[in-house]
Amino acid sequence: MKLIKAIRGMNDLLPEDAAIWQFLEQSIRQLVASYGYKEIRTPSLEKTALFQRGIGEATDIVEKEMYTFKDRGNESLTLRPEGTAGVVRAGIEHGLLYNQQQRLWYLVDLYRYERPQKGRYRQFHQFGVEVFGLQGPDVDAEIILLTARLWRLLGLEQQLTLHLNSLGSNQARLAYRQILVDYFQEHFDELDEDSQRRLKTNPLRILDSKNPDMQSLIESAPKLFQHLDEESRQHFETLCRKLEDAGISYEINHRLVRGLDYYNRTVFEWMTDTLGAQGTVCGGGRYDGLVAELGGQNTPGIGFGMGIERVVLMLKNNHIEQQLGDAIDVYLINIGESASNQALSVAEALRNELPQLKLLTHCGGGNFKKQIKRADKSGARWALILAEEELAEGNISIKTLRAISTIETDEVNHQKAQQVDEQQITIPLVDLAGWLKQKI
Ligand code: HAM
Repeated sequence: MKLIKAIRGMNDLLPEDAAIWQFLEQSIRQLVASYGYKEIRTPSLEKTALFQRGIGEATDIVEKEMYTFKDRGNESLTLRPEGTAGVVRAGIEHGLLYNQQQRLWYLVDLYRYERPQKGRYRQFHQFGVEVFGLQGPDVDAEIILLTARLWRLLGLEQQLTLHLNSLGSNQARLAYRQILVDYFQEHFDELDEDSQRRLKTNPLRILDSKNPDMQSLIESAPKLFQHLDEESRQHFETLCRKLEDAGISYEINHRLVRGLDYYNRTVFEWMTDTLGAQGTVCGGGRYDGLVAELGGQNTPGIGFGMGIERVVLMLKNNHIEQQLGDAIDVYLINIGESASNQALSVAEALRNELPQLKLLTHCGGGNFKKQIKRADKSGARWALILAEEELAEGNISIKTLRAISTIETDEVNHQKAQQVDEQQITIPLVDLAGWLKQKI
């Protein structure tokens, strides 16, 4: 029979990586709680028009990356390629935005038909934040500080650089767009095919081109920054000052324009050089016109999206799994019929008394040799041996499978010392929970 495989670019999360994902998700939940942000969840499917209007017709995402299909009622639907448009739609629909302040976050699956490679997938996940009703720049600084705190929580702060730019007001950007079109028009023959097309649809995106032949042309192009409106310039300067006051280093990157059309003023990306080509781990910015564009009342907004898979890759590069304590504590072996009958209730009683205990119960029978092998393979620190004769006397044996190693710091030299427990002991079953309580 021919094997049915997963869809290209859509990954399974396997048990060996689950601990890293859980660690990251827990760190995110702890982080957003400490900033008072509230969770929002929206459907994975939305009407196609939401993304066409929200993200912009002339963006790569809408032009060629969306999973769009007709449902059985002949309505065009799209699997969300990003989170912002859906959150704005929900905010308008439920009256959360107008004349209010909202600080929201989400952790969702997203879909883009891109060419898969390391760090770039067709189904991926984002941690995102969207803030409404605040003009900034104080809140612009807040969400950047929030991301910086996450890097510190995860031990990634040395590997990420903050890139910052301002796109100015919509009017200033429109005026600049014309200046840019005039400039590139003069050099039309030096543009590659993609950029010649973009000149008509989305000229700012030409600045994003990675084509080495066009780099000097792009370097010499007029800079949006020199055409910013006064208010946006002040907004940006205040933001920079706030980041400096908070001890956050940044690079001003005039070529940073972002791939979605809704941005104005502040845009930022956190980049790393540890992931090869897909080095943007987090990107976001201000979108003061989006709520009105999607039919709501004028409401300022700002947010970011962070690629979970990319953060996981960085954590793996740092061998974080070695620090995550998801190892099994005890493996309960049962030898003989009465032991086998009682094993589950002994295990349940232990879980009642020690909710934090990680206990694996042997299932499927087998002799002592087979069971102890399993116990060892499970990575447990102790095997609990519930054996017929000992049980008859109300006892249980505990075999230490692994010693915990501790690094002892000597004033003179560093010595690795191993603290090895007794190899095997037998204790009354009633004392077992107390014994374990002292050890874990
Ligand atoms: P974005 O720049 O399209 O922005 O995506 C944000 C992040 O998602 C990227 O920096 C990257 O880490 C990750 N990402 C994007 N595409 C992929 C992919 N194919 N595979 C893996 N990771 C990927 C947005 O989506 C905006 N909605 C962010 C935002 C929220 N701006 C304001 N609010």
